[in-house]
Amino acid sequence: MTELRHWWQRAVIYQVYPRSFQDSDGDGIGDLRGIASRLDHLHDLGIDTVWLSPIYPSPMADFGYDVADYTGIDPMFGTLADFDALVAALHGRGMRLVLDYVPNHSSDRHPWFLESRSSRTDPKRDWYVWRDPAPDGGPPNNWLSHFGGIAWEWDASTGQYYLHSFLKEQPDLNWRNPAVKRAMFDALRFWLDRGVDGFRVDVMWCMVKDALFRDNPPNPDWRPGMSTRDRLIPVYDADRPETMALVAEMRALLDGYGDRLLIGEIYLPVERLVAYYGPEGKGGAQMPYNFTLIKARWAAESVAEIIRRYEAALPQPAPPGVAWPNWVLSNHDQSRIGTRIGPAQARVAAMLLLTLRGTPTIYYGEEIGMLDVPIPPALVQDPAEKRQPGIGQGRDPERTPMVWDASAEGGFTRGKPWLPLGADHGRVNVAVEAEDPQSMLALYRALLALRRREPALGGGAVEEVRADGGVLCFVRREGASGVAVALNMTGAPAETAATGRIVLSTQLDRRGEEVAGTLRLRPDEGVVLAE
Ligand code: GLC
Repeated sequence: MTELRHWWQRAVIYQVYPRSFQDSDGDGIGDLRGIASRLDHLHDLGIDTVWLSPIYPSPMADFGYDVADYTGIDPMFGTLADFDALVAALHGRGMRLVLDYVPNHSSDRHPWFLESRSSRTDPKRDWYVWRDPAPDGGPPNNWLSHFGGIAWEWDASTGQYYLHSFLKEQPDLNWRNPAVKRAMFDALRFWLDRGVDGFRVDVMWCMVKDALFRDNPPNPDWRPGMSTRDRLIPVYDADRPETMALVAEMRALLDGYGDRLLIGEIYLPVERLVAYYGPEGKGGAQMPYNFTLIKARWAAESVAEIIRRYEAALPQPAPPGVAWPNWVLSNHDQSRIGTRIGPAQARVAAMLLLTLRGTPTIYYGEEIGMLDVPIPPALVQDPAEKRQPGIGQGRDPERTPMVWDASAEGGFTRGKPWLPLGADHGRVNVAVEAEDPQSMLALYRALLALRRREPALGGGAVEEVRADGGVLCFVRREGASGVAVALNMTGAPAETAATGRIVLSTQLDRRGEEVAGTLRLRPDEGVVLAE
């Protein structure tokens, strides 16, 4: 049992992709005023913390993950006044705001980079990663971009290459330069001073590169169809030992403002992931994002193993506030859960996410069961897809507009949405589901309410994690009170041993049913039982 001393331990985080949440001015792209106008939905749902993907001025080569000014708002999204109003509106409802922070790279249009590339002797030259060509004139080493191809771009006018771990429009900042650190930390302070409650740090594990720029070794497991970056093992351009000291400095900066939250986007095996809590589980990020469910094979045995392995990997013992777990099902870079495992199992996944120990993050639209929307080639927007078409990296399908009602543009915009809505938008939308007591929205509301009501689902330990055939079972226990969770992860009826009173079924019936010894589950049904 853990006493939940920190707001972020009790929080339920909701990721808003600002382009796609709510448009207020008819340009077909979401904005801050739009978000502010939809806070009642989030509040009624039971959300208390909103994470916004980037809203900074940006040429939008990677839809805001290419920042041209770390202390401004892109006019497409609104103004600083709109931002302040949003913070005030959230805080007024007792809600919090987490901003995306993109430290690994800026936009190639950032004034820092324009100066840096202007000449070899410019004072900002060393703010980015510039290297001479290899003796044959080619790139300085073999590092690969996450978006395909080599991670180096030749700059003819100054005769050097610069590093870009993502697009060439996203040059990597040189975090070994103290001036970069100062400027980037000032940006954190700028937003903290405006009341921001935390940051989600983009590609936290990639921020520091090998000082000797050694070649990455080849990956013997690479197969055609995998991303080209997977051809090499990223030993020297990711998860470098120096990263931790930097994360600790960021955390200390945040701590200077009180109880603020540092989330790290980190795609690493759990054993490495947990290092980002800091030495002995302290002083690093409070939430190194746990993406194990995103990559999971959706079967009771494998998910049980994921839970056990993650819980065991957390630095132990965990005093309050230390090495607190977190869980994520989807985000703006991953296919939606309902598309990955099917709409029926998406309800089971929702119950899993909201009954596990640790802070959950919900991706916008998951609460109404939105699915990936197929995007015809002519409408593709995502630069990752454009660079490596057809290898399944395209991220537009999971970024389509939030659907508020059954109207043609789903209540998202009065203009033309930047990505099309799904064919199911007449059915899968907030207004329709709000009237349907069995909808996905009703399930999310019920789960969030139960989570708040039931102490064992807050700080309670997770125990007895097991797979019984196709049923995933675990118990959450706090002191004398406990709840059992049983999730049928198959499309066939199943049964398992359990005793108690059903407090919630994913099908939103059976409430109050007493179970004595044998719990019968319908296909794709999950239940929570009180002891
Ligand atoms: C992160 C973001 C992704 C972006 C990339 C480069 O992985 O989540 O959307 O493209 O970083 O910033």
